[in-house]
Amino acid sequence: MIEIRNLTVSVDNRTILNDVELHVSRGETVALFGPNGSGKTSLLYAIIGIPKYTVESGTILFNGQDITKLSIDERARLGIGMAFQRPPAVRGVKLNHILELCLAQRGVTDSADINNCIHELQLSDLRNRDVNLGFSGGEVKRSELVQLLAQNPDFMMFDEPDSGVDLVSIQAVGRIINQLLEKEIMARRRTKAALIISHAGHILDHVNADRAYVMLHGTMYCAGNPGDILDDIREKGYEGCITCKK
Ligand SMILES: Nc1ncnc2c1ncn2[C@@H]1O[C@H](COP(=O)(O)OP(=O)(O)OP(=O)(O)O)[C@@H](O)[C@H]1O
Ligand SMILES: [Mg+2]
Repeated sequence: MIEIRNLTVSVDNRTILNDVELHVSRGETVALFGPNGSGKTSLLYAIIGIPKYTVESGTILFNGQDITKLSIDERARLGIGMAFQRPPAVRGVKLNHILELCLAQRGVTDSADINNCIHELQLSDLRNRDVNLGFSGGEVKRSELVQLLAQNPDFMMFDEPDSGVDLVSIQAVGRIINQLLEKEIMARRRTKAALIISHAGHILDHVNADRAYVMLHGTMYCAGNPGDILDDIREKGYEGCITCKK
């Protein structure tokens, strides 16, 4: 579904991603690990098309179509969506309003899924508040998820959906991500795919990932089994990925 070839990205003339290769197939869930400042969020920004993240070379293909030069709204309309690590607060726009707009855009009149999700994520009290304004860290993460459900994109990117989320809420977050990704049906029948950034891998206790990548200094160093990679990072640190020959 997503294929990234030799992607080099700069911000303000500083290279932050260098020759990145990555692919995610339909039905797959792929994890992305890496230390602070390694370029994980920047990669997601480049995929969604945030203008400041200038593609210097390389291509991003979505379902075979080159989207490298498309605007952020064109990419969203094609079916790419993202739950942000630190989304901005939007003063004057209620969470409910965004959800209604997203559903209307898709021509969906039945809001049962959204209501169930709101209930599951305990967001009822936030529906009529300005998006993210004064939300706690965990509330922001849960609000991002319900917005993604309202958009229902085919390729979903989750930037640290587990960071700052309490032990009980993370189970609900996991259930909603599994629902978004159609995990209840066989992989080959699924229409969705995902890229999930996580530091400690807590979300992967609840959402099964098929593969994982490790990013260091803006470059992909490794791809493999998520559990094995996490064990190796715990044992040898991220720098072990540079010398590891696996
Ligand atoms: N808009 C920007 N302006 C200047 N530098 C930026 C910008 N965006 C990213 N960078 C730099 O690029 C590097 C990668 O940042 P990025 O946010 O992608 O890291 P990350 O891997 O997501 O880290 P974390 O795990 O802490 O979230 C950092 O050194 C960061 O300071
Ligand atoms: Mg980040």
